[in-house]
Amino acid sequence: MPKVITVAQQKGGAGKTSIAAHLAIAWAGLGTEQHGRSFRQDMDYRMSEPPKARKNILLIDLDPQESLSDWFRVREDRLGKDENLTVVPASQWRSNPNLLTEHRAADFVIIDTPPHTEVAAAREAIRISDLVVVPAQLSPMDIWASEGTLALIAEEDKPCVIVLNRVPPRARLADELMAQLKAEDLPLARTHVGNRIAFAASMLHGMGVTEAAPSSLAAAEIRLLAGEVLRKVA
Ligand SMILES: Nc1ncnc2c1ncn2[C@@H]1O[C@H](COP(=O)(O)OP(=O)(O)O)[C@@H](O)[C@H]1O
Ligand SMILES: [Mg+2]
Repeated sequence: MPKVITVAQQKGGAGKTSIAAHLAIAWAGLGTEQHGRSFRQDMDYRMSEPPKARKNILLIDLDPQESLSDWFRVREDRLGKDENLTVVPASQWRSNPNLLTEHRAADFVIIDTPPHTEVAAAREAIRISDLVVVPAQLSPMDIWASEGTLALIAEEDKPCVIVLNRVPPRARLADELMAQLKAEDLPLARTHVGNRIAFAASMLHGMGVTEAAPSSLAAAEIRLLAGEVLRKVA
């Protein structure tokens, strides 16, 4: 059966949908043939090696806003179908109790969740997950909001990893918050995701950043994150 990874965070705009889409494309190995050695040929580079084999990914879009489904529609219009990547909307997830069994050949199921005004949907996804990825921006509001999400994950007794997203270039507040987070002994991912236009720009074209801009810093971060999360569920 596939490994199930839920992306959850009660605060909207934290980067759930973005992280879900970029991770999916990185794992599906799409665009990795161009995986350049043009930059950062150091330890980071080796850690960011993409998975050798292309993975088969099922994305489930539990957000009624369906932004992930919109992205996928743009993608299929522009690039055609890809047998390694499927996105299903919440309606299909609800109406088909055999969905996961039908996709048992998938390597990963990634579930994108709505903000927790729809807490039932997030809980349901977390309950069947092997790992929960919690994106959070480096702001007090996001950090506080994460506590509710972490409590939900703890209630379901699931492992999780907090991914700091849209991390600004060095700023005093960022340093302060980072120090505070480290002191709290939270399960922080080693990989931080920067505030980079390439994340949104690639999604606008229905793509992931690793395929649209493979030698960008944004793509390097996603490859690192994909590797880090992969090791946690392996
Ligand atoms: N690392 C990032 N750098 C720049 N923009 C980002 C980044 N992550 C997310 N965004 C932007 O922030 C907005 C909210 O992201 P989204 O993934 O939709 O969050 P959520 O699904 O948690 O509501 C979107 O406009 C997205 O393009
Ligand atoms: Mg979203």
